[in-house]
Amino acid sequence: MKTPKELVSLMTLEEKCSLLSGLDAWHTQPIERLGIPAVMVSDGPHGLRKQNDKADHLGINESIKAVCFPNACATAASFDRSLLRRIGEAIGDQCQHEQVAVNLGPAINIKRSPLCGRNFEYLSEDPYLAGELAVNIIQGIQSRNIGVSVKHFAANNQEHRRMSSDSVIDMRTLREIYLPAFEAATKRGKAWTFMCSYNKLNGEFASQHKWLLTDLLRGEWGFDGYVMSDWGAVSDRVRGVEAGLDLEMPASGGERDREVMQAVREGRLDEKCVDQCAERILEISQRYLQNARPDTPWNMEADHALAGQLAADCMVLLKNEDGVLPLKQGEAVAIIGEFAKKPRYQGGGSSHINSFRVTSLLDAVKDKPGVTYAQGYRLDGGDSSQLVAEAVDAAKKADKAIVVMGLPDSFESEGYDRTHMRIPDNQVTLIEAVAAVNPNTVVLLYNGSPIEMPWIGCVKGVIEGYLGGQNLGWANRAVLWGEVSPSGRLPETFPLRLEDTPCYLTYGGEGNTAVYSEGVFVGYRYYTARKMKVLFPFGYGLSYTKFDYSSLCLSTDSMAYGDTLIATVDVTNAGNVPSKEVVQLYVSSPRCDVFRPVRELKGFEKIHLEPGETKTVAFTLDKRAFAYWCEDIHDWYVPGGEYQIQICRHADEVILSVPVEVVSPELPRPVYDKDTIQMDMSPRALTVLNAVTKEALADTLLSGDRPKTESEAITDEMNAAMMRYMPLRAMQSFGTMTTEQLDHLIDALNCAE
Ligand code: BGC
Repeated sequence: MKTPKELVSLMTLEEKCSLLSGLDAWHTQPIERLGIPAVMVSDGPHGLRKQNDKADHLGINESIKAVCFPNACATAASFDRSLLRRIGEAIGDQCQHEQVAVNLGPAINIKRSPLCGRNFEYLSEDPYLAGELAVNIIQGIQSRNIGVSVKHFAANNQEHRRMSSDSVIDMRTLREIYLPAFEAATKRGKAWTFMCSYNKLNGEFASQHKWLLTDLLRGEWGFDGYVMSDWGAVSDRVRGVEAGLDLEMPASGGERDREVMQAVREGRLDEKCVDQCAERILEISQRYLQNARPDTPWNMEADHALAGQLAADCMVLLKNEDGVLPLKQGEAVAIIGEFAKKPRYQGGGSSHINSFRVTSLLDAVKDKPGVTYAQGYRLDGGDSSQLVAEAVDAAKKADKAIVVMGLPDSFESEGYDRTHMRIPDNQVTLIEAVAAVNPNTVVLLYNGSPIEMPWIGCVKGVIEGYLGGQNLGWANRAVLWGEVSPSGRLPETFPLRLEDTPCYLTYGGEGNTAVYSEGVFVGYRYYTARKMKVLFPFGYGLSYTKFDYSSLCLSTDSMAYGDTLIATVDVTNAGNVPSKEVVQLYVSSPRCDVFRPVRELKGFEKIHLEPGETKTVAFTLDKRAFAYWCEDIHDWYVPGGEYQIQICRHADEVILSVPVEVVSPELPRPVYDKDTIQMDMSPRALTVLNAVTKEALADTLLSGDRPKTESEAITDEMNAAMMRYMPLRAMQSFGTMTTEQLDHLIDALNCAE
């Protein structure tokens, strides 16, 4: 087989340009003359949405029958790398079977606000968690020689005006919050392809953002695949080619290819850019073609079972008063809510899968004695009063009531954002009525992102089921009846109310401009810094057992900033049932020159423990676990000082904390000039400053030993505090220093460094 370079060298300019956009909605262009076939790409990310005809990118037309795994909102709650990897492997096999070269996912944008309509498809508000999970699903899919397309690169955190909005974000926030998951997907995941987002980033469309697509992605992170556009994301194709956008999707009817050709012919675009794009696309297609295995079996039954089994590990037990759960054999249980029969198990839009089967909770409990059902509300929002009366009746006769509720399809979807965080009113009416007659009421939620729960006080139990995939019924039953102990943890904060969210005042933006003014204080980084009460913190989740933690040990108590630190901790299952636990490690930084979050997640492990069993969990922390992005040096920087290594129940509760002293060089000093303030000077320079000023000024403003007078309004302490922020030029304005003396002082300060 010829290499991509050789192939491109044999092509006419027209042929090369034709490769740079799709053949149709789902295929790359073939060039029959050179034996180059079209290859297929398909959504993504929770299974396979392969459309054989009548292609569209919004999930409207039917695609082939397939398997819908728990959605990203749910899988993130598993905090389980191996779970993501298994889903990836299954999707990879399905793609091999269906001859799909690239699966369009994972979608890994950060959840900036609970309002984003597409949060169900994204992983977390935390970049470390999102990155770790992304790497594993990527490795799973690519282990089958199928490419991923990591999307939506970058800063696509709202659906409102998604095709025109400009995300305005400072560099530190980008580096620390919105980019690390993409960085991990490249450096460790070795993603084959990336998908650029629709939006602009700091004034430039992502589809033509040279810094993003070339300098950062390829230059800094070492990406070696191709970047495709999101469907319809191209604004200026010629600038896109120049910036590193290799493939425009879907087809442009040859229009854009002609524009590119024209630009080359007129000398406005270097032909080498076109060659490079074409080579990258061919390289990835070959990677697949050389390893294509259409004989790979696809056992849908097995994948359905797997989807259910994994969904159980994604469910989060939020409230369990008086041990209302698990349900006991023989208890009379009223299952209430239309969702129990017609579950919402996936989100709307391009990720929508045509499930070959759906197992609802009602399907899953058919063989359980003592279970009754009442619809309770209408999903279409119609009058439910009669249904509520029937539900109340069923609840009265039962030992316990399980009310299944959450967000209907129309409440959250790709393409638009929510405007509030409430569930439909008819569901609230129902829950209040049921809880009034049955003290053992439990709510099971199906939703893709956080909701407000003003009704939570009237129920004993709450389980967050998220969007659990097509076999969620099996998972729900397993957790409700205690066959599986719940082990999911929230990958996002549930605030008490929308108004509490970090970007409440600016989310969605003004016109086309969305300024991310909360900076790095996204999700729990904001709530912990403000010591705010939330409904449920990031990392929160209960279990049917109890875990004890002890012996948090560090490999050293003092280290140089680039060294690796190993932390170990013992975890014991102190209860009576086997269960999984998510061990969470956070790093808390000392005060320094920049604002840093109270603590940040830097390690997690999910382990299984039998009753009475203890395991030691080890974490390796490298430089990045301590660093912040420093704009002065355009690099990660670890300030010296005492850091706390914390094992936490969740972002808001520290169980164990041990300090480690980190020794780090000071940041390079800027050159001092007349506008420098004392505060920004090194201790060495301060000594010089004091010596010189004492000499130069008899009654110095700085020395602190001015003669005191009875009526003195400014104490030495106050004087020193004010002086800290006075520029050196003040010596001249307020003191008696001449210009010459000031210049001499500045020279002396710079020499001292
Ligand atoms: C979505 C992408 C998706 C593409 C193809 C777009 O509307 O934003 O995530 O992969 O359509 O369906």
